Amino acid sequence: MPKVVLITGASSGIGRTTALLLAKHGYIVYAGTRTPGNFNAKSENLHVIKLDITDSESINSAIKTIVQEQGAIDILINNAGYALVSTVEEVTEQEMFNQFNINVFGIFRVCKEVIPLMRQSNSGVIINISSFLGKVGLPLLTFYNSSKYAVEGITDSLRYELSDFNIRVHSIMPGFFNTNFAKGNLVVNSSIDADNPHYGQLIANLVPNIIDQINAGNNAQEAAELIRKMIEDPSAPARATTGDKASKFISMRRELCDEDFERRVREHYNLNG
Ligand SMILES: NC(=O)c1ccc[n+]([C@@H]2O[C@H](COP(=O)([O-])OP(=O)(O)OC[C@H]3O[C@@H](n4cnc5c(N)ncnc54)[C@H](OP(=O)(O)O)[C@@H]3O)[C@@H](O)[C@H]2O)c1
Repeated sequence: MPKVVLITGASSGIGRTTALLLAKHGYIVYAGTRTPGNFNAKSENLHVIKLDITDSESINSAIKTIVQEQGAIDILINNAGYALVSTVEEVTEQEMFNQFNINVFGIFRVCKEVIPLMRQSNSGVIINISSFLGKVGLPLLTFYNSSKYAVEGITDSLRYELSDFNIRVHSIMPGFFNTNFAKGNLVVNSSIDADNPHYGQLIANLVPNIIDQINAGNNAQEAAELIRKMIEDPSAPARATTGDKASKFISMRRELCDEDFERRVREHYNLNG
């Protein structure tokens, strides 16, 4: 029986590429997106489904449809996410909430509905798309960083909580990928201006650098291939990196003490003031 996959945030980038790859390899894929009309790709195994992970009714309705059509969800890929770029002192309440509402609470909402289905079938795979910034902090990305650190925590805890039900949980930490991320999903707040009296130099130095690195990043196909490999390997590691920057920073993070690692990041991003 082909396995049934639900992917969130599938309209572009890693989500879309993974949906197309898995459908090509015989999985029955439900590509969850807020804008199904814009998906523009057809494949026999691919179902584009409306899904807004901030809205429990939308989640329930999508899952009900999948269960009616397929009877189960075998694999969940929590991929939807965006990055808020802001100083901490200048963020708004709404901006702060939105970042966690999508990147963290969205994962909880979808897991809450999918886990009972997986538990009933005593099998399942959940893959959370985190970031190498789920293990490495950077200034102006504190909200995104902390949301992705939370994704790493969700992965660690759920691995214990769900292992008795034969449900595997993993995270994938991409480095920089040339997707729609820098063009459409970096939300830059009003503090991020080179004329900012306190953070102007940091902003002028770091923000264009990050945008350039995303736009020059790896191809989403690489992340999609890793996701497929993780699904198909019952002994896959708890977490894995994909993309040049992630392998470099995560292995350095593992080898160095906090202070030495911080020195290397400061040098790399020219953060020495
Ligand atoms: N690109 C990178 O450099 C990079 C690096 C590390 C980690 N990541 C992570 O990889 C995942 C996929 O990103 P990507 O690079 O493929 O970027 P992308 O092309 O911008 O795709 C992000 C997807 O997330 C969904 N999304 C964004 N904002 C949302 C919101 N406010 N509400 C609901 N859904 C929203 C969108 O889904 P719909 O429009 O389909 O609803 C969109 O298709 C994200 O979790 C991101 O944090 C990316």
